[in-house]
Amino acid sequence: MLKSAWECPSNIALVKYWGKYDVQKPRNPSLSFTLSESKTETSITLSEGKSDALLSTELLLEGKSNEKFKAKIDEFLKQYWSNFSYLKGKHLLIETRNSFPHSAGIASSASGMGALICCLADLEQKITGEILPENEFWRKVSFFSRLASGSACRSVFPYCAAWGRDEMLPDSSEEYAVSLPFSPIFKQYRDCILIVSAAEKSVSSRAGHALMNNNPFAELRYDLARKNFHALYAAMQNEDLKTFVKIVENEALMLHSLMMLSEPSFILMQPATLSLIEKIRDFRAETGLPVCFTLDAGPNIHLLYPQECEKEVRERVENDFVRHCEGGKVIFDRVGEGAKKL
Ligand code: PMV
Repeated sequence: MLKSAWECPSNIALVKYWGKYDVQKPRNPSLSFTLSESKTETSITLSEGKSDALLSTELLLEGKSNEKFKAKIDEFLKQYWSNFSYLKGKHLLIETRNSFPHSAGIASSASGMGALICCLADLEQKITGEILPENEFWRKVSFFSRLASGSACRSVFPYCAAWGRDEMLPDSSEEYAVSLPFSPIFKQYRDCILIVSAAEKSVSSRAGHALMNNNPFAELRYDLARKNFHALYAAMQNEDLKTFVKIVENEALMLHSLMMLSEPSFILMQPATLSLIEKIRDFRAETGLPVCFTLDAGPNIHLLYPQECEKEVRERVENDFVRHCEGGKVIFDRVGEGAKKL
């Protein structure tokens, strides 16, 4: 019996990936913070299969059988079977759990798929005996994480990652993400996730990406995203927090504007999302602190701030912002170190 166990965190995009082509290739480069507390732990135990089937799987999410996630993994392995033939005739017991609370409105597909692919890549090395150099191992993990769940490819790298080809980064690619150098202050960055709603989204990100194909603003968006990517990267090198705040909020609002201007149009923000955005901007104006917000494809707010603002932010969150969160739910997360072997 062979076993491999890994953890992989979720990530939050600062420059958003929204619109794709071919097999999960992004229309523009994106850039994200890797998180720390919001993560998935997964183990795969391999044994000999009972039948002559290609392979069999069993999936336990928090100790309970989960057919939906199992079907997703089965489909992925089948689709890319030529890359997983080392699993032929095996039975895979996949045990997975998320550190973040159930139905917290945090997408678990980036962390879940990232952790799964780490286990598979590790098992492949154990079975074939071919050990890749570390950078090639991570590139491969990121490549298959992208095929499994798009932006998951950024989650495996520490602190900050970029995905999408851009001449500014010679190693960058549409097929996998790369780790991004930046000023040390961002290693200590905090992300307080304000849960406005934990309900499942009315429009999946798969459907949202597809609607970009007919969005009249699509070409302008891809152009602006690239400009924001360059400007944000420069701001992060120079510790220019004023520009950082401006671009991060612009990206979040552009993403949601694109949703509103899709055909059919859809809105994922909720009244409490807008109240919190106003409160965060008021808080910044009052205190001069470089706090800002971003959003993923949902109503929840990611409140980003440097470590030095921790005390003031916690006070404000606990005394005020929390009232706008569903069941008072808030997750204090921070930038983290990427996927790790357990
Ligand atoms: O990776 P997907 O298909 O779930 O799309 C992610 C889309 C956003 O979260 C809105 C942006 C991003 O870059 O993560």
